[in-house]
Amino acid sequence: MKKIKVSPSILAADFSRLGDETKKCEAAGADQLHLDIMDGNFVPNISFGPVIVRTVRKLTKLELDAHLMIENPDLYLDDYIKAGADMITLHIECYGQRRPHSIGRDKFPKEVDEIDVEKIRRDLKRIRARGKKASVTLNPGTPLCIEPILDDVDDVLIMSVQPGFSGQKFMDSALTKIKELRKVFKKDIKVDGGVNKDTAPRAVEAGANVLITASYFFSATDQKKVVTELKQLGKE
Ligand code: DX5
Ligand code: ZN
Repeated sequence: MKKIKVSPSILAADFSRLGDETKKCEAAGADQLHLDIMDGNFVPNISFGPVIVRTVRKLTKLELDAHLMIENPDLYLDDYIKAGADMITLHIECYGQRRPHSIGRDKFPKEVDEIDVEKIRRDLKRIRARGKKASVTLNPGTPLCIEPILDDVDDVLIMSVQPGFSGQKFMDSALTKIKELRKVFKKDIKVDGGVNKDTAPRAVEAGANVLITASYFFSATDQKKVVTELKQLGKE
């Protein structure tokens, strides 16, 4: 079984005390920090941009994974890399023909059935050429159509909620995708959304090994215990 890594999403942190919050993640034993970047167009919510990434970069040496829930990510890759992200996670829904129901500025979630392989490969290569890790993710309704680009990524993120908000319920359909992907992909598989003590064991059993958590981690009174227990799942 692969080593479990824990990646707290600062979306549920107290932004008035970001210094303390990042220190808390470090002290708890987190392996990386997950940065949820939302633009109000790809998802129906706005979070933060490069300014906060740059701030967090100054606060910690932990690996920073920028989860870009934004339209036209190619226009902003360099900004997030410059701001200090170590890894960029791209949504494949930005690289293919959108399903009809998800076309329009107020139509969510965005979904595709296939991707423009050359287009996304270009951006993944740009990320790697800057010495950063490249990752892709897909919304719950988007099928696992990433086989052609598995050699171009350092890990894959499977969304287990519709992107846009923390605190949602884990969607079991993610488990099927994780299992399918694990059959052909040996690197890290991240899972994001609704991860907690009940859902994490099932995600790990399916083959995920990077557990992203916002509300479960930040609402816990003993965050070290949360991380220790999640990591323990890799040893069972
Ligand atoms: C959702 C984000 C997730 C979210 C997770 O759009 O990508 O990273 O913050 O939140 P929880 O862990 O509370 O479901
Ligand atoms: Zn995320």
